[in-house]
Amino acid sequence: MQDNDGTGGHVPVMLERVLELLGPALSGPAPVVVDANLGLGGHSEALLAAHPALHLIGIDRDPFAIDFSTRRLSPYAERTTLVHASSGDLAEVLERAGHTTIDGALFDLGVSSPQLDEAERGFAYSYDAPLDMRMDTSQELTAEQVVNTYPTAELTRILRDYGEERFAPRVAGLITKERAKEAITSTKRLADIVREAIPAATRRTGGNPAKRTFQALRIEVNAELSALEAALPAALDALVLGGRVVVLSYHSLEDRLTKQALTARTRDTSPPGLPVPLPAHQPRFRLLTRGAELPSDEELARNPRAASARLRAAERIRVDD
Ligand SMILES: C[S@@+](CC[C@H](N)C(=O)[O-])C[C@H]1O[C@@H](n2cnc3c(N)ncnc32)[C@H](O)[C@@H]1O
Repeated sequence: MQDNDGTGGHVPVMLERVLELLGPALSGPAPVVVDANLGLGGHSEALLAAHPALHLIGIDRDPFAIDFSTRRLSPYAERTTLVHASSGDLAEVLERAGHTTIDGALFDLGVSSPQLDEAERGFAYSYDAPLDMRMDTSQELTAEQVVNTYPTAELTRILRDYGEERFAPRVAGLITKERAKEAITSTKRLADIVREAIPAATRRTGGNPAKRTFQALRIEVNAELSALEAALPAALDALVLGGRVVVLSYHSLEDRLTKQALTARTRDTSPPGLPVPLPAHQPRFRLLTRGAELPSDEELARNPRAASARLRAAERIRVDD
């Protein structure tokens, strides 16, 4: 169902907290923020409205997200640069936009509501559609190709590592057997195969058994983790003194990568045993969140899709000499 604003009732996750955390970094005369996961532009719109001098660089690999946000953010067109790209290319995007340093960065990872809700995009196990799952519809690799061409061992690894699927070898084994009879081309057939592969006792607990397999395939098709591995360090390196980053992740693998990238930069790396810490080894960032913050119960009641959100944030406190 579409609301009047065309956002389908989409509510930006942990919006107040995101604004509060990024705010102090965006109060200068000409601040620049990067929204590395523009989506429907909900966070971006709020940031632009809150900071009248702000220039926003919005990145999304989904051309529909860029189109939608271009319309939504048109009142701020003079203060926005929207780019169809992977956040994995964040450093190049900044360079092309003429901004080698930034004051803030926001990562709101994962899939958008329209990607999940538009059946034909093939992300959802609850609709029957072609097995697609590409965020960037111009890329070649689809979920259908992964499911029908990857060796069984590789499928097992993906299901185990990206989906945390306990029964990965059984699911990958049944996929291999079924695809030998006839190519697996629809979300429904894949969901049925997963259901059949999972032991009956487990099937009765813990929601739809296809959820983990679909998550794993989506991460593989969109190379989500390698994009984050490139994008987050690039954003952190570009932050000025006092610059801030906020990351919203939606599964443990993203959150683990985020935690590692942030904690690596908030440590004193002086060799142990020195009488005084070495200035060049002092932390370049400080954490703004204690562990990962979760959405409030009130937000979860309003927006069940925020359920798996984990928020971490940090501030640049030293720049290299
Ligand atoms: C959760 S949505 C963002 C929602 C947005 N914050 C809002 O308020 O509307 C995530 C978006 O990130 C995009 N995305 C995911 N991985 C990406 C990547 N590596 N590079 C660029 N965009 C990516 C998806 O296409 C999707 O539109």
